[in-house]
Amino acid sequence: QWGLHTKWLGRQTIHRDSTPSTQLVAHQAAREMAEHGTVVIADEQTKGRGRMDRSWYSAKEKGIWMSIILRPGIQPHLAPQLTLMSAVALADALRTHTGTTPLIKWPNDLLLSGKKTAGILTEMQAEQDQIQYVVIGIGLNVNHQEADFSGELSDKATSISLETGKTWSVIGLVQDILTSFEQSYEQYMEYGFPTIKERWEEYGFKIGQEVSVRTLKESWKAEFLGISEDGALLLRSPNGETRQMYSAEIDWFDE
Ligand code: BTN
Repeated sequence: QWGLHTKWLGRQTIHRDSTPSTQLVAHQAAREMAEHGTVVIADEQTKGRGRMDRSWYSAKEKGIWMSIILRPGIQPHLAPQLTLMSAVALADALRTHTGTTPLIKWPNDLLLSGKKTAGILTEMQAEQDQIQYVVIGIGLNVNHQEADFSGELSDKATSISLETGKTWSVIGLVQDILTSFEQSYEQYMEYGFPTIKERWEEYGFKIGQEVSVRTLKESWKAEFLGISEDGALLLRSPNGETRQMYSAEIDWFDE
């Protein structure tokens, strides 16, 4: 149906014309034992969601809204590496398919011309230190026009179409994204995180530059050095000390 070029990813697909969120459909399918590599895709989401409980605009024919079910034999604490892997896979696919030059804003937003064009939401179900399944949600703005991004979004969001000046077939892009995803996943499973880290850093937004870091307790300026061997954020504070952070809010843009 999708004309996929993959070996296992997307061999099972669940398609919905409209659904609140492909994440919900994927969680349910996974609980009902959907196989590794099952892809849930919807033309439209009525309650698309992003990280930190934000909503995600997902209208018909505007973009790609899909969730991938994985059953990786890795430890739960390594799951964030899958998110970084997904961002790299998506960036590769966009670069080759559309000729754009995406950057990845840590951990996993894709930027074109400094504006967000894709987001990734990873959710995991684990029991007794075993991953039952992981759902990786990918939202990619493809055919939005300027009028689709009103208010503050107009400075913050963009689409492939706005960046390239043409409309894109969603199916062709899905095929290439899934092929790229499958290759990256296999590379990660076979060689571990180092190869993903290297690729991630080639796309890394603001590497080598100054950023503002905020945690619950404090806020300070630091140089963004890249990511660590296990996927943490590597920062150098003004006193020269290097710090690894797993969860910090970064103000990436100058006010
Ligand atoms: C983010 O940047 O905050 C992540 C956005 C993730 C959006 C995708 S669209 C497909 C899947 N279904 C959802 O409800 N969310 C993810």
